[in-house]
Amino acid sequence: MFKDLLPPATAVCHATSKMWETTVRPDEEAHIANAVEKRKREFRAGRNAARQALCQLDSQFNPHTTSLLPGEKRQPLWPDHIAGAITHSADQCYAAVALKSNIKSLGIDVEESEPLQSNILKMICTPEEIKWLSSLKDGLFWAKLIFSAKESIYKTYFPICHSYLDFLEATLEIDRANETFSATILVDTCDTLGTQTLEGRFTITDNFVYTAVWL
Ligand SMILES: CC(C)(COP(=O)(O)OP(=O)(O)OC[C@H]1O[C@@H](n2cnc3c(N)ncnc32)[C@H](O)[C@@H]1OP(=O)(O)O)[C@@H](O)C(=O)NCCC(=O)NCCS
Repeated sequence: MFKDLLPPATAVCHATSKMWETTVRPDEEAHIANAVEKRKREFRAGRNAARQALCQLDSQFNPHTTSLLPGEKRQPLWPDHIAGAITHSADQCYAAVALKSNIKSLGIDVEESEPLQSNILKMICTPEEIKWLSSLKDGLFWAKLIFSAKESIYKTYFPICHSYLDFLEATLEIDRANETFSATILVDTCDTLGTQTLEGRFTITDNFVYTAVWL
């Protein structure tokens, strides 16, 4: 799914059922030693999928010698020349990677396509977004898409700026016909990001929404 959303310079892996079961490198396993089974499975799927994606990107990559440890804020620590992202939801897990010489940073997110819970709407969506959503008959469904898009934005933003970005610190315009979105960051960003606007693409299936952002 993400292969169609992201530029051709990106390698994507959809985790196989075996990847959810297969343990990862010992230093990676140490991070989930005390985690519940569900968390162990999704972490393993993400790391195994990420290594598979890296093998697709670079035939010289040795998956047996490279750990992908989590950083201080849970961001995956990719090799220096790699931009990448991981997402999981229910039984879906994807990893996407690219050379930084082609793509500076990227974010992907998959969510179950149920409507957003109305009690968190104001924590996720800006007043402008809520105004747009109110004009739609299935506004809470599109709010879920905004939620996913903002998670993809955060996964793109964080590795560059190394700072938290709240859901209300970006506002989105969604082009439903073209399945694209544009996010304006409402706070000062870091110089290395070099923009206040991030663009992304989305697709919707019966059960899931998928969003992707890249720079
Ligand atoms: C980090 C966050 C985006 C993860 O989203 P999620 O729906 O819970 O879970 P997903 O499965 O889609 O993604 C989880 C993966 O995101 C990645 N991730 C987590 N923190 C990250 C960070 N700071 N930067 C980049 N990637 C990160 C990890 O790979 C993680 O999987 P792993 O722990 O198994 O490695 C979310 O939990 C969060 O903290 N959101 C608040 C910030 C935000 O989204 N702001 C919106 C700004 S517009």
